Order: sequence, then structure tokens, then C-alpha cells
Amino acid sequence: MKIKIGNINILITETYREMSKKAASLVTAQVIIKPNSILGLATGSTPAGMYKEMVKIYNSDQVDYSEIKSFNLDEYYPIKKYNKQSYAYYMDQHLFKHINISNQHIFIPNGECEDVETECRAYDERIHILGGIDLQVLGIGVNGHIGFNEPDVHFESRTHMVTLDEDTIKANARFFPSKDEVPSRAISMGIRTIMDSKKILLLANGLGKAEIIHRTVFGEISPNVPASILQLHKDVTIILDKDAAEQVLNHAKCNEA
Ligand code: F6R
Repeated sequence: MKIKIGNINILITETYREMSKKAASLVTAQVIIKPNSILGLATGSTPAGMYKEMVKIYNSDQVDYSEIKSFNLDEYYPIKKYNKQSYAYYMDQHLFKHINISNQHIFIPNGECEDVETECRAYDERIHILGGIDLQVLGIGVNGHIGFNEPDVHFESRTHMVTLDEDTIKANARFFPSKDEVPSRAISMGIRTIMDSKKILLLANGLGKAEIIHRTVFGEISPNVPASILQLHKDVTIILDKDAAEQVLNHAKCNEA
């Protein structure tokens, strides 16, 4: 099912698997149409199924990633690349080691850098020099964060160091041996860096995301719900499973009645 709310195209699927397959088809189409695309990639549990489907398509159709470049949204700080909880490790396990992307074309904020300020400026500059992100994949936190741009009083524009919200630390504790081991900081692309992407694809699944998806799409545009800024982007697609779509669908039905 498809609905359009303002500028945002929403695709609603029955299951997480279907959401993942649709997302994988869209990202793969981008790679086929523009083989030297710059992809913006996300981590977390939401896009894991999409990466699995992308690898399947890669294995059956020989999609060529040799000219693709990728920039990840974020990385914990401080964290070693080989730490199994790092996003560098996640990306390698879920996608990069399975496809023919060149190691030189993979960019993830360096969780081991000493000079964070310089790392952040260099990250944005590299994206800019390469011509900007063609397609940015996003997940969303239950508090509305995109990347690690947590609710705030203003939109933080460029790649920067963030202090993670207690909610985010709790939510991400499931990936760590204990909550105490979740780093309290991260380096994240900023809202402007994300909004400068030519296309945005946001994924969400599960009832736990239903309320924040509703606020993102219908709510006031406010740094208190960072994802709400997406209402101002010209080319956003959101793919939801039916649970994450629950409140959006109820709202749309009420308006029809
Ligand atoms: C990850 C990221 C975060 C996650 C969000 C949702 O790179 O930037 O914004 O997308 O925390 O995480 P999951 O998918 O685990 O619910």
C-alpha cells in the first residue's frame, strides 16, 4: 500500500521481510542506475534485513559495487574498529564483506580518532568533494533521532560529536554485554548533512516505532523530533511494516471519514 503525506511517500508492507526486500530493491536500483553513486548507510536492527536482501540480489544478479562509495551515518566514540559492537564491524559483517565494494570507498566516522573536530570537518568535506550523497538510508530512534541527532533545542547541522540520550543507551544496550558498556558518545552526521542528500529512504518496523513515525510525518517540525525535518526534504520515501504504520494509517483513515 502507498500513501503520500506532504512531500513524503510512504510504502506500507505486511512484514519486516517485505519492508527489507523493497528497501533492498530501491538501493540496488540506485546502484544499477548510477554505478558510481554515493550511498549513505545506517546500522542498527532495522536495516539488517535490507542488507541481507541486498547481498542476495548481489549474489544472483552480479550487481557491481566497484565504483560505489559509502558514508555511514555514525559511529560510537571512542570505540576500536575491531570491537564487535562498532558500526565499522557491523557494516563489514552485514554488507561490505559480501559485496565487491572497494575498502578505499568505505567511509565511517573514525571512533578511534584523537581530534574529533578535524575528523568531523574532513568527513563533511569528503562528502561534499565527492558530489554529495545520492541516497541516504535512515532508521529512526524511538525518540525521533536520525543518525545520532538526539532531540534538542536546535538542529545540529554538520557532522559532530554527540552525547547519547539515556533512552538511546538503553535501546542499544541489547547489542552490548551490559548497559554500562554502551559508549555514552558518538560521532554523527548532522541534520544538514543528511538533508543535503539527494534522496532519503527511511525504514521502520514494529509497534514501538508507530508513535514516532506518526509524529515525524504529521507532527510539528521541531528539533525535539529530529526526524520531523524530513517533511522539508523533496525526495523522501519511508518504508514501514504494518505495525510501524499503525498510527499513520489510523490518522489517514480518520481524515478520510
Ligand atoms: C544507526 C542510526 C540510528 C538507528 C536508530 C534505530 O546508524 O543512525 O539512528 O537507525 O537508533 O535503531 P534500530 O534500527 O536498532 O531500532
